[in-house]
Amino acid sequence: MAGNRLVLITGASAGLGAEFARQYAAKGWDVALTARRADRLDALAREIEEKYKVATLVITQDLAAEGAVDAILGELKEAGRTPDGLVNNAGYGLPGTFFNTSWEEQEAFLRVLYHAPIELVHKLLPGMAERGFGRIINVASLAGYAPGSNGHTLYASVKAGLIKFSESLQAEANAAGHDINCCALCPGFTFTEFHDVNGTREMAKDSPEWMWMEAGPVVTAGMQGVSRGQPVVVPGAVNKGVATLTRILPEPLGREIMKRQGRRFRKTE
Ligand SMILES: NC(=O)c1ccc[n+]([C@@H]2O[C@H](COP(=O)([O-])OP(=O)(O)OC[C@H]3O[C@@H](n4cnc5c(N)ncnc54)[C@H](OP(=O)(O)O)[C@@H]3O)[C@@H](O)[C@H]2O)c1
Repeated sequence: MAGNRLVLITGASAGLGAEFARQYAAKGWDVALTARRADRLDALAREIEEKYKVATLVITQDLAAEGAVDAILGELKEAGRTPDGLVNNAGYGLPGTFFNTSWEEQEAFLRVLYHAPIELVHKLLPGMAERGFGRIINVASLAGYAPGSNGHTLYASVKAGLIKFSESLQAEANAAGHDINCCALCPGFTFTEFHDVNGTREMAKDSPEWMWMEAGPVVTAGMQGVSRGQPVVVPGAVNKGVATLTRILPEPLGREIMKRQGRRFRKTE
């Protein structure tokens, strides 16, 4: 293979996305970084080039915008690059209930967290199949295992959808005999800017320290999982325990626990 492999990372301007960029670069991958904040992406690209001596590409794009995925792919094509890796990571929590949020807010949420990731996979997959190699990580959430909650209505739905999508894609790739792996990474509480952006930082502060993970080990777990062909990765012992509980608790009990606990970290206004 001539040159380094390239990984496209969405939501690379902060948190888990920036950490994915550093860890892939440390393994010798070139990185294409996309998000809305160009200054953050430029600074990260400079840091990575200097430290890891790999090539970077910055693509400023709002994933909620019509045609965003084609615009990103167009920039990659113009640069003459084809990704062998994709990290669908961009995301945020939309506070409020389905009753008190606008359709525009919900539609933008669905575009960024569900439509764009799936469109990116669909459009990058033929190239990966042709070259016989692909690594895809869909950043889902522990919320995808938990019962739905009052507030942040579609968050659990899209994350559950990404888990199922990743399982199906991994099964299809296996059946077709491709060396293409797809993994849903399901973090629990992780120290990033996520809770500042969705306005739940004060609420999240009340959750005990042992429930939180740093971005580094979460990302490492995802990268190891996708290399091994694991369709779903839940990072950390505490998160694994919670995921197991959601599967063995009777559903009405699970919903009752979510009703009581959910108000500690879901904003309904
Ligand atoms: N932190 C947690 O506790 C936690 C737990 C479970 C799952 N997750 C998931 O982890 C992923 C990463 O979140 P994080 O914790 O790293 O949060 P973060 O620090 O707030 O980073 C979110 C990233 O998404 C990008 N983004 C948001 N809206 C976008 C849009 N419209 N277009 C393009 N990019 C957009 C942001 O970039 P710009 O603002 O520059 O566009 C930023 O780079 C998300 O999918 C989240 O659901 C996080």
